[in-house]
Parts: sequence; structure tokens; C-alpha cells
Amino acid sequence: MNRMPLPALSSAVHVSRRLAGVALLALSLGAASAALGHGDVTPQEVDTKGLPDLGEAPLMENPFRSGNQHADHYDEAVAVGERGYAGNCAVCHGIQAMSGGLTPDLRNLEEWDDEFYLQRVVNGTERGMPSFKSNLDQTAIWAIKTYIESVTP
Ligand code: HEC
Repeated sequence: MNRMPLPALSSAVHVSRRLAGVALLALSLGAASAALGHGDVTPQEVDTKGLPDLGEAPLMENPFRSGNQHADHYDEAVAVGERGYAGNCAVCHGIQAMSGGLTPDLRNLEEWDDEFYLQRVVNGTERGMPSFKSNLDQTAIWAIKTYIESVTP
């Protein structure tokens, strides 16, 4: 699936970020798999109790973000997302979403990347991002996004 068309400037920024990421990744794959060999990378279930069930049909935007459909659950979403992030993402994307440079820094995602974010987390990529289809439902995935936004400066 392709990303939505972006304005020219931010598209150039995204492309250069992506290229830098690929170059770093080529260098880092060995290190990453060594690190993963030691850590516990079993995908963690995330308890989404207290949050509305978002169902299966993919949403195009984070529903917990201010102004969106479930913004009244923002605080619970951050709390659930913090646990989900720590158990599933931090090992590669860094504590509090601060990337050490080997993986994309998720704090750089913009609102119009929402669809891209969901697609990446569900399907993964062939270049090192695992698929979370089997252990994270859409409610957990958007809660994690809400947490990432909460730690974005
Ligand atoms: C095993 C390491 C690993 C884990 C665990 C992991 N990721 Fe990733 N992730 C990556 C790598 C490597 C990439 C870059 C992949 C690529 O460019 O094809 C990536 C890319 C992404 C992207 C695309 C970002 C961009 O700017 O291109 C998103 C979104 C993402 N990950 C979210 C998550 C979330 C949310 C979690 C936890 C649920 C997670 N990842 C867990 C390694 C990981």
C-alpha cells in the first residue's frame, strides 16, 4: 500500500529520512539481530480494558487524538499504549520512542502518516519491522500511537 500524496517539501524530508534509515539499517542488521538474540522479543498481549473496541475495519486516523472520535479516552489510551509500547516496540524503537538511529524514530510520524503507521504495524516490512497482526488488535495499535504522540516534543 502506498502512502498518501504528501506536499513536496515534507515528501522530500520523508524520502531523505527513509534513505538515511536504509543506509543505517544495512549497517545495523547484524547488531540488531545480536541484540534480539539476547532479549525477550516474544510479542506481548496488550490489555485494552477501558478502551472502546475499534473493530477490524482499518481506521485512517488515530481515533484517540484530540478532536477525533474517541478523544475522551485519550488518557487511558496513553496508559495502555505505554505498556504496549514497552512490551513490543521499545526493544527496537527505543525507550520513550527515542530511536538510537538504527530504526526510524516514531516521533517523526505526522498526522497524515496514520494510515501508513497502521499498515506498517499490522504487516511489518521485509527490512526488519515485524508484523504484529497476531498479537495486537487495532485498539492496542492506536493506543500505542497515542502514547508515542504523548512523548513527542
Ligand atoms: C525487531 C525490531 C522491531 C520491533 C520489535 C518493532 N519495530 Fe518498527 N521498525 C523496525 C525497523 C527495522 C523498521 C524500518 C523498516 C523498513 O524501513 O522497512 C521499522 C519501521 C516501523 C515503522 C515505519 C516508520 C517509518 O518512518 O518508516 C513504524 C510505524 C513502526 N516500525 C512501528 C512499530 C511499532 C508501533 C512497534 C511495536 C508495536 C514496532 N515498530 C516494533 C523494527 C522494529
